[in-house]
Formats: sequence, structure tokens, C-alpha cells
Amino acid sequence: MPPSIIKDPKLAPEGQRKIRWVEQHAAVLNAVWEKYLNDGTLRGVNVGVCVPLEAKTAYLSILLHRAGANVALAGTGPGYVQDDVAAGVAQEGVTVFAVADAGAEEFQKNLERVVDTEPALLVDDRVELTRILHTSRKHLQSKVWGATEQTTSGVTKARNLEREGVLAFPVIAGNDALCKHLFDNRYGTGQSVFTALMVNTNLYLGGKTVVLAGYGWCGKGLAQRAAGLNARVVVCEVDSVRALEAVADGFAVMPMEQAAEVGDFFIPSTGSNAVLRREHFERMKDGAVLANAGGVDVEIDVPALEELAVEKREVRRHITEYRLPNGHRLHLLCQGLLVNLAGGDGHPVEIMDLSFAVQALAIYHLARNRGKLSPRVYPLPGDIDQEIARVKLATLGIAIDSLMPAQQEFLRRWQ
Ligand code: NAI
Repeated sequence: MPPSIIKDPKLAPEGQRKIRWVEQHAAVLNAVWEKYLNDGTLRGVNVGVCVPLEAKTAYLSILLHRAGANVALAGTGPGYVQDDVAAGVAQEGVTVFAVADAGAEEFQKNLERVVDTEPALLVDDRVELTRILHTSRKHLQSKVWGATEQTTSGVTKARNLEREGVLAFPVIAGNDALCKHLFDNRYGTGQSVFTALMVNTNLYLGGKTVVLAGYGWCGKGLAQRAAGLNARVVVCEVDSVRALEAVADGFAVMPMEQAAEVGDFFIPSTGSNAVLRREHFERMKDGAVLANAGGVDVEIDVPALEELAVEKREVRRHITEYRLPNGHRLHLLCQGLLVNLAGGDGHPVEIMDLSFAVQALAIYHLARNRGKLSPRVYPLPGDIDQEIARVKLATLGIAIDSLMPAQQEFLRRWQ
């Protein structure tokens, strides 16, 4: 492996302290490592990892390394790297190519550096590594046994590759595993987005109107959390069933054009682009706060905001104020990047413990089934999902019932 590229090795002790905290709370991942990952399957295997680089993702990489894999790691982009954690994880034997304030071009090079280590397995995020393997590094495709994809947006893109008949290796839709999106997208996003919003703005949510775009797994978690913080919740959707679900859950539903006029906080989580755009900015109240929770950094049309504004200034760390021609000030958090990652520590540890158990076992599954899977997008096998939930329940000391033979027989019958 080539040498790591990090900001400063002297930052390692602080990064390692953060990682040790995760280690203490990652009960599921630790159990999965003990029971599966450490059985020699991953020994000597090159694994490429692309993740928002903070302590939890660092710990996943460390466990893969401890299982004997040669791990090369890059962050998901400028704004998604913590330099102390990058130094800490490098110190523990993982090859890291990540510097927090590197520009977009250097970030891309770092991803290519990961791909150039010729990984057999990929833990991918927003198909960053997979995309490189389907463009500038096609010659390395044959080295890849398979990838697991962490994000909703990435799974969509992997399916696009499959639909166009160009997907070169099997991809497990890690995001679609129940132990991932039911907890990470829903409760993880719900907690971490509002934590970041409150820490960065120091504003009160109660009685304010929070406008959410998208009522998918993230949107549902955000709505529940906003309601729990005594905010009024407005949901904007393009899918009739999801919109109806939001109505049934007790939330106001309306088009963004209308919501733009009433919102105090705007939080899109759709995976789509320009969800908040010029015609919405022009209608917003003075002081409205805009924070992106979606997996793509273009949910808020920041270039349009830049063009529209007559004045722009940093009013607080992570908050850019745009003054519009009508005199209204709009406050954009973290330049439209994912607010919970760029302006916070991401999801809670116990939530990512589940997500990374999914990723780790997906990698393990791909390694065990090397050569048997065709280049398609696969769901995580249901028994792996069940196993992760079983392990989690056991770590919580919670027992559940099981079906009696007579019940199993009853359920098998059609008569
Ligand atoms: P999902 O597919 O369950 O939900 C997305 C919803 O957005 C759908 O109901 C869809 O109809 C709606 N939608 C699409 N375009 C829209 C538009 N222009 N206006 C209004 N609604 C629209 O996806 P999920 O799991 O909720 O993820 C959403 C996004 O959040 C993805 O990009 C995902 O990668 C990202 N994500 C972010 C996390 C974070 O930490 N902030 C964590 C997990 C996922």
C-alpha cells in the first residue's frame, strides 16, 4: 500500500480518542467481528472504502483491517473529513487519503488513489468508487469481487448502471437492508440533523414551522423529531402515497411554492436536485434557515441563491447569510452540504453500529460468494438482516418469542 495522505499525524491522539469512544459503543459491530469477520475470510484482501470520514466510519475500517484486510480509505468529499480522525485511523494501520480542506480536485484524486490500490471489495458511498471503476479505471474492474453501497442515492445510481447494462460487478444495496434504512435514514437522520441545526444556529424550534421536502425514510424521521421538538411540520412531496402517509401521520402537506412562504426552517431530504430554488427563495420569510439533509449536495440550488443575492456574508460558523433584493436574509447552513455531517458528527454511534454491521456483513458475504454472483444489484440476504437485529437485541438484553411448530405449520397451510 502507498503511504497515507493526511493533514497532520500529530492529530492522531485526538482522533484515536474519538475512535475509542465509538469502539466502546459499537456492540453489534464488535460482536459481528468476533463471530464472522475475524475468521480469515478477509485476510490479505484489498478493500477500498469511501465514507464520510469521522470516528464511526474510521472504526469500521479499523475492524476490516484487524480482520486482515488491506484497507484504503478516502472521505466522501470536501467538508466530510475530520483531520484528527483521519490521522487516528492511519495510525492504526489503515491507508488513508483524506484531508479536510482539500479541494474538489484533490478529493477526486484521493478516490482514484483508493481505486489504484486495486480493491477486490468496496464499501462505497454515493457510488464514488464504483463510478471511477466505470469511467477512468475500467481496466481495474476485473479485480473487483463486489461492492456494498451505503446510500439511497448511491443505490439509485448503481441501479442506473445495471439498467444500462454496464454494471461490471455485483453490488449489494446496503442502504435497502432493513437494519440500515429503518434506523439510520429514519432515526439517525432525525436526531443528527436537528442536533446539527440547533448546535450551529442556537435557535429554538418550538412553535416554528419546519418545512421538509421528501417524506421517505429520512423525511419521516425528520418529521417525527421536529414534532417532538414542538415545531409545526409541513411536508412537500412529489409522490402521492408518501404525501398521503404524511397527512395520515398528522402533518400539513402542500407544494413548496406555498410552503416557502410559511417556513422558518427548510430541510430537503429527497436525493433530487434543485428542490429549493430561485422561485422559492424569493418567497421565503426574512431569517429563514436552509439546511440540507439529502444525500446529494445539490438539493438546495446554491448557485441560484448566489446569483439572486445582493450581499453575502458569514454570520456564524457554518452559516452564510444571503441578502435578497427584497431585503430578506436567508441563512444557508454548511454551504448546502449534508448538515449533520458537515456541521456535526453525523448519526449516533449505536445507529451507525447497525449500518456498519450491514456493510461489514455485506462485504463478508461478497467475499464468501466470490465468483458466484453476476453483475447485478442485490438486496442484502434477509437472514443477514435478521442476524444483525438478533445480535443487537442480545446486546440490549432483550429476548423475543419464537413460533411454535404448530404455528409454523398453521402459517404454511393455505386451507
Ligand atoms: P426515499 O427514497 O425513502 O425518500 C425520498 C423521498 O423524496 C421520496 O418519497 C420522493 O418521492 C421524495 N422526492 C423526490 N424528489 C422530490 C422533490 N423534488 N420534492 C419533494 N419530494 C421529492 O429516500 P431516503 O432514504 O429518505 O433518502 C433521501 C436522501 O437522503 C437520499 O439522498 C439519501 O442518500 C439521503 N440520506 C441522508 C442521510 C443523512 O445523514 N443526512 C442519511 C440517509 C440518507
